[in-house]
Amino acid sequence: MPLPPSIHVVTHPLVQHKLTKMRDKQTSSANFRRLLREIGLLLGYDATRDLPLGTTRIETPIEGMEAPLLDGKKLVIVPILRAGLGLAEGVLDLVPLARMGHVGLYRDPRTLQAVEYYFKIPGDISDRDVIVCDPMLATAHSAIAAVDRLKETGARRIKMICILAAEPGARAFAEVHPDVPVFTAAVDAKLNDHGYIVPGLGDAGDRLFGTK
Ligand code: PRP
Ligand code: URA
Repeated sequence: MPLPPSIHVVTHPLVQHKLTKMRDKQTSSANFRRLLREIGLLLGYDATRDLPLGTTRIETPIEGMEAPLLDGKKLVIVPILRAGLGLAEGVLDLVPLARMGHVGLYRDPRTLQAVEYYFKIPGDISDRDVIVCDPMLATAHSAIAAVDRLKETGARRIKMICILAAEPGARAFAEVHPDVPVFTAAVDAKLNDHGYIVPGLGDAGDRLFGTK
């Protein structure tokens, strides 16, 4: 069955190459962190394709011109802690003036439900484009909970960036939030009994921060 239309797989060769390096268990935490940031930038490039543009009058050294410039209030990047921090770095490289929000969630290892422990976002979120960052969309419980919370606070234009989704999670997310496009480097077929993506890349937070 084809994936829902809100799920976008970014097939760019650089993205695919970097994802393979990240999946490899021999990759060190330092390299994993660098690759995550680089993929964040590349996925962010795709996810920001439709940001509104206005124009501004500037003087080049040759003559004056009306030149394109991002319009509207600054973008908000919202990493889901912890692992989303590493992905958000890449999006921030792309849009350095963006605002940041943070959603702290962990997965209860027994129930696989998302448990919130932190939530802080800019006050005027309803006027801004929001990009939620989390490298892994497994059951999608975390991503669904984060977007639920953002919508409750008034966010209307939300996108999600992850590097790896499991097909059941991608479908579940698209069913609950069909208005939130997801940009991912790959969609793997399944989850194991512990809710890990197979073949996946393991525990993103542990690999990023060297906690295992
Ligand atoms: C990981 C990952 C996602 C979540 C995905 O976080 O970064 O947030 O699991 O799983 P789900 O789609 O089944 O909800 P984790 O709970 O391990 O927390 P951490 O980032 O603090 O390690
Ligand atoms: N969280 C991870 O970090 N990895 C998975 O495979 C699933 C959830």
